[in-house]
Amino acid sequence: MSDRSSTGGFDASGIDEDAWTELERQLEATIPVYDRVNRIMTLGFDKSMRKHVRNHAKSGMKILEVGCGPGSFSVDLIGMDLTCLDPSTEMLKVCRKRVDAIRTERAETPAVYVEAVAEEIPLPDNTFDRVFCLFSFRDFKDKRTGLSEIFRVLKPGGQLVICDAGKANWLHGLFGRIYMATFVQLVARIVTKDPKHPWKWLARTYTHYGTHSYYKSMMKEVGFTEVKARLLFPGMSSRFKAQKPE
Ligand SMILES: C[S@@+](CC[C@H](N)C(=O)[O-])C[C@H]1O[C@@H](n2cnc3c(N)ncnc32)[C@H](O)[C@@H]1O
Repeated sequence: MSDRSSTGGFDASGIDEDAWTELERQLEATIPVYDRVNRIMTLGFDKSMRKHVRNHAKSGMKILEVGCGPGSFSVDLIGMDLTCLDPSTEMLKVCRKRVDAIRTERAETPAVYVEAVAEEIPLPDNTFDRVFCLFSFRDFKDKRTGLSEIFRVLKPGGQLVICDAGKANWLHGLFGRIYMATFVQLVARIVTKDPKHPWKWLARTYTHYGTHSYYKSMMKEVGFTEVKARLLFPGMSSRFKAQKPE
């Protein structure tokens, strides 16, 4: 891993162990108000962004969500064979309760829950039709290794879809940093009533996050083809798509 000391433990391709442990602690602290803050800080567009990603899956497919958090995306995957992966015991606990409750109502089998990081996925090769990462790619300790692991567990012809904070290029990144440092911080402060709220780390991971071309190159180096990136309306989020060749 490269030396990240000048970036406080972060760079565009990953996060140092100590900084990642603190980031995980902070993410767990967001659980009680996670969906509410996301809704307000995206002005409600989180719903349409998640729907856009979900439309890449079809009923009957085998799906893996990497970095499922409290289940905000997985909960709406209907009629699919679902595996939810996250390194946080707390996140997985909330996710399991929420996702399995709704799956039971829909007469679906429970999902499978895996406590692990993307960089070391304890699942067999060539297993999934789709792998989704929503707002978790930015947190990977080592993005290249995480992408390689996702490539390994995808079936030939399978697809990875990532949705994360948008950074199309450096200029767009500059606007993103202003939005993260002002509006997002204000919303988080008001909702949590805590000036030391955990969304401070969101601005930090975004600052050191790479651009579309940076991650597109990385995905191609890992072996993905048909690699595409675009901003989702209204430009707060980026969506990457990449295919494992047949
Ligand atoms: C902001 S939450 C996203 C939750 C959810 N996917 C959503 O749609 O809102 C980020 C999640 O990524 C997880 N995460 C952090 N580092 C990870 C890693 N290296 N591999 C997989 N997941 C990771 C965190 O534990 C957290 O639950």
